[in-house]
Amino acid sequence: MPNNYYAEKIVLVTGGGSGIGRELCLKLAKAGATIICTDIDPDSAALTISLIEDTTKGVAGKLDVTQLAEFENVIEEAITKYGRLDLIFNNAGIAISGEIRDITADEWKKVMDVNFFGVINGSQTAYRYMLKQGFGQIVNIASAAGLIDYLALMAPYSVSKHAVVNYTKILRTEAKKLGIKANVVCPGFIGTSIGTNAIVANARQSWNDHAIEMVAKGISVDKAAGCILQGVAKNKEIIVFPFEARIIYLVTRLFKGLFRKAMQKQVKDFRANYRVS
Ligand SMILES: NC(=O)c1ccc[n+]([C@@H]2O[C@H](COP(=O)([O-])OP(=O)(O)OC[C@H]3O[C@@H](n4cnc5c(N)ncnc54)[C@H](O)[C@@H]3O)[C@@H](O)[C@H]2O)c1
Repeated sequence: MPNNYYAEKIVLVTGGGSGIGRELCLKLAKAGATIICTDIDPDSAALTISLIEDTTKGVAGKLDVTQLAEFENVIEEAITKYGRLDLIFNNAGIAISGEIRDITADEWKKVMDVNFFGVINGSQTAYRYMLKQGFGQIVNIASAAGLIDYLALMAPYSVSKHAVVNYTKILRTEAKKLGIKANVVCPGFIGTSIGTNAIVANARQSWNDHAIEMVAKGISVDKAAGCILQGVAKNKEIIVFPFEARIIYLVTRLFKGLFRKAMQKQVKDFRANYRVS
């Protein structure tokens, strides 16, 4: 890691009980940070901490990112215990797939509550404390789906991640002269179990099985967490990986018409084979 960037840092991770969040906690602890690992499922967060070599370098707790008051409590406790908060990784997120006409208002709300307002709740609370201490870094995990337009069949996910990207860019702009850094992470597929818990709107199980398979073929959490931590240490505005995700992003911007047509073809295939009519 560049210049022992994470040594002695106090770091809060949301959604730390699984996938990318868990691997971030393990790597951060290895790099010398003290971890506050949180998750809506406190047992999974505790399991993450039990996997850290020096378990005194971490604590686990319950934090549902949709609940502003829970952030308030966790961050207040961290400041009381450690005297400061150096970094927050707003990582918790959920997936959804299906056509816009089949996705209910409640499903939109659920995805926006976790993926967007979860990030806002964490950022705003940490920002306030970081402003008082005069330093800190806010890292928001979005997705390549937050950069690419026309991504059919996952509208709430893509919309929530686009919002996170733009929010973080604005936060970074406003916070720079106040001593606070902000970074947004936009990965392609990473092999985690995000698809297993995804909301599937009016589609056959085989559709989600296909999505789970695509995610499983993604890069390892080990590689992903490494890319994230390197990008954050370099204070990159947008951290996009793997290389293929950058290429896809570029191609979709250069050939918008073609990409939109490819998406329309995918919708046609979805309707023919997977949608429950
Ligand atoms: N896996 C991928 O291919 C991929 C790609 C790009 C971006 N991402 C993003 O990375 C982040 C982590 O995803 P992952 O792939 O590790 O998924 P994951 O399902 O393995 O982990 C997500 C974690 O978030 C927790 N969580 C869910 N709702 C929560 C809530 N309300 N409050 C607190 N915790 C909650 C879950 O319990 C789980 O431990 C997400 O924001 C996701 O959108 C994932």
